[in-house]
Amino acid sequence: RLLSYVLGIETSCDDTGIAIVDTNGKVHANVLESQQEFHTRYGGIIPPRAQDLHRARIKHAYERCMEIAQLQPQQLEAIAVTTRPGLPMSLLVGLRFARHLARKYQKPLLPVHHMEAHALQARMEHIGELDYPFLCLLISGGHCQLALVQGTGRLTLLGETLDDAPGEAFDKIARRLRLSILPQYRLWNGGRAIEHAAQYASDVNAFEFPLPLARERNCNFSFAGIKNNSFRAIKAQERLERTPPDGIISNYKDFCAGLLRGVCRHLMHRTQRALEYCLDPSIKLFGNATPTLVVSGGVANNDAIFANMSHLAQQYNCRCYRPSKRYCSDNGVMIAWHGVEQLLQSKTNLRWDYEHIDLAGTAGFSASAVTGVIEAGIKCKWIQPLT
Ligand code: KG4
Ligand code: ZN
Repeated sequence: RLLSYVLGIETSCDDTGIAIVDTNGKVHANVLESQQEFHTRYGGIIPPRAQDLHRARIKHAYERCMEIAQLQPQQLEAIAVTTRPGLPMSLLVGLRFARHLARKYQKPLLPVHHMEAHALQARMEHIGELDYPFLCLLISGGHCQLALVQGTGRLTLLGETLDDAPGEAFDKIARRLRLSILPQYRLWNGGRAIEHAAQYASDVNAFEFPLPLARERNCNFSFAGIKNNSFRAIKAQERLERTPPDGIISNYKDFCAGLLRGVCRHLMHRTQRALEYCLDPSIKLFGNATPTLVVSGGVANNDAIFANMSHLAQQYNCRCYRPSKRYCSDNGVMIAWHGVEQLLQSKTNLRWDYEHIDLAGTAGFSASAVTGVIEAGIKCKWIQPLT
């Protein structure tokens, strides 16, 4: 088919992302306006504030994107936009803008499921190599899911978090630890700051975390226990050291290393069972394809986590991928790429009825094998983390 260009618009949370990707996976422009700086000042995202910021920036972001790509709007094949899941007020800004463009230039609109876009992103950089189906570990600020991915709109959930997401836990723990008072971490997200601090630990065993859901033979996750244990450990250490209310415990690096290790162990534990389920000779979810694990979402930026997941995959002769770091976190490229995948998958379901596209704050996948996993009752010989 002829080369075509897709514009992607992402406004589901606190980043305004607009990008243009072609059907060969080449990125022609990638504009990303982060709101992180505003939200850290208030200790979290305030939805109306996020909406205002998206509104104030989206037009300019789009214009810059077209200028960088050196393309005219008429040259676009379609406009892809995140419609679910996300903050409804933020999603609305992206959808309205996408609809306006689609109408003005007479282009089809491609609604995008944000988590699916994270899951498919690694394919863009491995065309012809990373084929369906594959197992995906989706780890971000709002989600934690294991899914078998067979195409756009074709994801089967194997397990998900019962409470917090790992990125959310990192962010809350980093805030409680007051990592952002250290100048080098002032503008970083919690996960990135914790990863950095952990590298300089002198005693990685100083803080230990229990393994969540150790006895549950499923692929679900839970980070609330790790979070509460963290709060407790920090408080105890603060008491011991008489840390002032605007201070930070002296051994925060050891704490970060212990926490990261605890999170790695939990992610490995749950993913190992999912791998065994997919590889089970009576289930054979990978079919005849090479077993493949993809780690995606903002937390996939973490090198320690990815190294451990690669190590786990290797034990099962399974390949392991993640998107390039610049595409792990929320961005417009992944939305545009999902649009490309929709175009390539089917020429028939293009949407011209712009008024009937619905937004959804929460959105699951089309199928679930959560009970199938439980019924399989898989016991594993656990692979230990690298460090
Ligand atoms: O996918 P994403 O950009 O947004 C959501 O859809 O949630 O993920 C953001 C999350 C944040 O919670 C942040 O703490 C986490 O990704 N994150 C990391 C790292 N970089 C970002 N977590 C661990 N290690 C990192 N290096
Ligand atoms: Zn995301």
